[in-house]
Amino acid sequence: MKIAIASDHGGRELKEEIVALLKEKGIDVMDYGADNPESVDYPDYGIKVAKAVSKGTVDRGILSCGTGIGMSIVANKFPDVRAALCTNMYTARMSRLHNDANVLVLGGRTLEKEVALLMVEAWLKTEFEGGRHQRRLDKIKELEKGLFNNKEE
Ligand code: RB5
Repeated sequence: MKIAIASDHGGRELKEEIVALLKEKGIDVMDYGADNPESVDYPDYGIKVAKAVSKGTVDRGILSCGTGIGMSIVANKFPDVRAALCTNMYTARMSRLHNDANVLVLGGRTLEKEVALLMVEAWLKTEFEGGRHQRRLDKIKELEKGLFNNKEE
């Protein structure tokens, strides 16, 4: 599995921990930064990971900023990206089982490091359930094709 990862300054320390975990597991990691504590703009980093996932040059992505909110907003602008801002073990697992999330988003300032790392492990090994959940993802895909008319009630 190939994973792209990035953070801003608010998620950088957690991102470094996750990179170490992924490498320890022998996973191929593309680290797009940030690589120092300087304040940066999260879209500049989130875009890199979201593009890689959207184009299919990596299997999945992981993003981290202070809360995870900004990164999740950015990533979900890209076709075929299903970014999930997860806050605990339950949401990390469910984001795979029901949503087939291909980008995990974590808050570097909101999560305990140990919990976040367990969430990453669970997210990596949990498979999408398909079935009725696939039908719902198909509807999201329709939205991406521009079939949603925002002038309708
Ligand atoms: C940066 O201060 C902070 O706004 C950012 O890390 C993130 O929390 C945005 O959603």
